[in-house]
Amino acid sequence: MNRSVQHPICDYEGSDYQQVFWESGERQYEDQVEAIAIRRLLHQPGELLLEIGAGAGRNTIRYHTYRRIVLLDYSISQLEQAQARLGQDARYLYVAADAYRLPFVAGLFDAATMIRTLHHLAEPQLAIQQVRRVLKNGGLFLLEYANKQNLKAILRYWLRRQQWNPFDLSPIEFAALNFDFHPKAIRRWLEENDLHLKRQLTVSHFRLGLLKRTIPLKVLVALDSLAQWTGNWWQLSPSVFVLAQAGNTMTDSPANGFFACPNCQGEQFEECVTHLKCQTCNHEWEIRHGIYILR
Ligand SMILES: C[S@@+](CC[C@H](N)C(=O)[O-])C[C@H]1O[C@@H](n2cnc3c(N)ncnc32)[C@H](O)[C@@H]1O
Repeated sequence: MNRSVQHPICDYEGSDYQQVFWESGERQYEDQVEAIAIRRLLHQPGELLLEIGAGAGRNTIRYHTYRRIVLLDYSISQLEQAQARLGQDARYLYVAADAYRLPFVAGLFDAATMIRTLHHLAEPQLAIQQVRRVLKNGGLFLLEYANKQNLKAILRYWLRRQQWNPFDLSPIEFAALNFDFHPKAIRRWLEENDLHLKRQLTVSHFRLGLLKRTIPLKVLVALDSLAQWTGNWWQLSPSVFVLAQAGNTMTDSPANGFFACPNCQGEQFEECVTHLKCQTCNHEWEIRHGIYILR
């Protein structure tokens, strides 16, 4: 874990998260139900999508209705794993950057996603504000968050086996830089940032070792797939997917440039094979094997 001057970062540099958690971690159920939620919420054709906290690119191919995808992650090694998985396809651009300081001009993207990443952010409102800044008016934001008001947490609280109150609106940091959020707080932060709720799906209702061991995967996925539709009415699952749409508050003309310097917000760059040079502050941002490092 690397605590930067401004914000603490849960840094996955050098992590084998994709292999250990997803590929050998008995997580087919979670992966499949997440794929269903993404398909249901983000099926619109579009031009440019930003995947924030892309990790090793587990979900990237699921955004196939978008023509170009920017994979952004703080960790360079996660992006290298994503490159190995997806290849140097011109559809994908790899950017190592901080979700709190997105290095793009305002109003650039048609859509943004953030899956299993908000739960590492100590200041989620700041990141949500950044998402709105880089989205076009009318752009879509698909957000997954870890829900503190889940059924297991409620039962544990009522049985006095858990101290923290799942109904309280403040985030709970249950381990260092791992937060669960209350659905109402998430909705409030989205609305405060001109991101208007379109649909909620609750996901991973049956994330319990015993159920996963005893009920066939297909059945469990089918049951979750049905239960997801209740997400607009109540949110009691450990994971919630939200689709929000940016309003029309962006007054600037549509984006001309692409990158914005994380140091000075300058939008003019000179690009060569090894770096991007900001024309405003002269900072040189490295480009390493196809990964733009702007953090
Ligand atoms: C749990 S992984 C999820 C990866 C991927 N979205 C998935 O669902 O498989 C969280 C990712 O968020 C990234 N991350 C954490 N804090 C970040 C930040 N401040 N800015 C950018 N990425 C961040 C980590 O490096 C890590 O790759």
